[in-house]
Amino acid sequence: MQMIVRGARLHTGDGRTSEGLHDVECDNGRILRVVPADDQKEPPATGRVIEAHGALLTAPFVEPHIHLDTALTAGEPRWNASGTLGEGIACWSARKERLTRQDVLDRATEVLRWQAAQGVLYVRTHCDVTDSRLVALDALAELRDRVRDVLDLQIVAFPQEGVQSFPGGAELLARAVERGADVVGAIPHFEDTREDGIASLHTAFALAERHGLRIDAHCDETDDEQSRFVEVLAALALRSGLGERVTASHTTAMGSYNGAYSAKLQRLLGRAGIHLVCNPFANLNLQGRFDGYPKRRGLTQVKEMLAAGVNVAFGHDDVMDPWNPLGTGNPLQTALMGVYAAQLTGRDEVATAFSMVTDRAARVLGLGDTYGLAPGRPANFVLLPATSPADAVRRQVRPRYVISRARLLAETPPAPTHLHWPSADPAPVDFLRDQDAPEAHWRGR
Ligand code: FE2
Repeated sequence: MQMIVRGARLHTGDGRTSEGLHDVECDNGRILRVVPADDQKEPPATGRVIEAHGALLTAPFVEPHIHLDTALTAGEPRWNASGTLGEGIACWSARKERLTRQDVLDRATEVLRWQAAQGVLYVRTHCDVTDSRLVALDALAELRDRVRDVLDLQIVAFPQEGVQSFPGGAELLARAVERGADVVGAIPHFEDTREDGIASLHTAFALAERHGLRIDAHCDETDDEQSRFVEVLAALALRSGLGERVTASHTTAMGSYNGAYSAKLQRLLGRAGIHLVCNPFANLNLQGRFDGYPKRRGLTQVKEMLAAGVNVAFGHDDVMDPWNPLGTGNPLQTALMGVYAAQLTGRDEVATAFSMVTDRAARVLGLGDTYGLAPGRPANFVLLPATSPADAVRRQVRPRYVISRARLLAETPPAPTHLHWPSADPAPVDFLRDQDAPEAHWRGR
């Protein structure tokens, strides 16, 4: 046997956990068996043994929406002074002229390493293809091959400056698909006219159908309540039969739609089966910039769409680029920000937020039975020093171990803080409230 994790609490999906503790046995890079823990049983003589001591084992974090090509360019050549999406695009447009293969590789690799160290082993990155040289696309395709043994990278051909409105935009999108993009993108709200926006979505669907690809459109990323391309995207998904192969990202205009239209949309999106990706960091930053007070939150309808049966995931989106000067790629930060931004503070909603950066995000990427803690699936998982998904979100824990293909990829030893409290000996502080829970005996290991 290649590896066994003993005595773990399993995240079984949608924020739920297993009854009791389990052992996960792995061989040949795959999960062999998942069985109730038996601490009387001798550990195997060969292979790596990880004693979980009741810690939370989850399938890896999944990043459903990031921009690796623009990452780590904040301030180059200038800072986004207004903080708007439009000025961000203008800053990036100037930076794009200086792109080289090595520049993109260096920055994207750096952020992928941050992600892997934090347990993100499936990543969907958007890549701007409104560039006649397609420099970033070629570099990210090269990186996708380089990291194939460690993590899975999907590349979206993303027409940042438009399909209809950018010279040669449609042709560049088609070329990007032929050169290896995994997913077709669009940005209908940025096109010059509503008709251009609709035409761009037809172009995206035609390409996706011709090449058998999925679609992920930046859609209605504006506070303009008249921006209503998500209904077009959903209708096309429904009529083409692409359904769950289609994702609408951002959809922030939804935060400004009236109740009657929202009700229509919830029904349409539920029928279409498309996914939504909410990016709380970027959109709390970018939206509401044209408002006085009251100032809108500028986020999609997370709670309402979840209630309507729509799959919603959280994405990190930007890491130190013209649209967000901060960012670390940490999915638990994304989940925490999402909890507050979308007010997911109900009894089970924090756990739902955890699933929005794990199994719900996996559905966006279409990972199917290549993802999850079940026999026959790749032995990819993360051991979190937490008692539950909600506890992991609250305490923002670092993964103790990240396992990829049954091999140890990253480990983070515990780093206790000792409090020199008045009139007492220094004592460790770990912010747990349920210290009597049997799950908590992994502390300090
Ligand atoms: Fe984005």
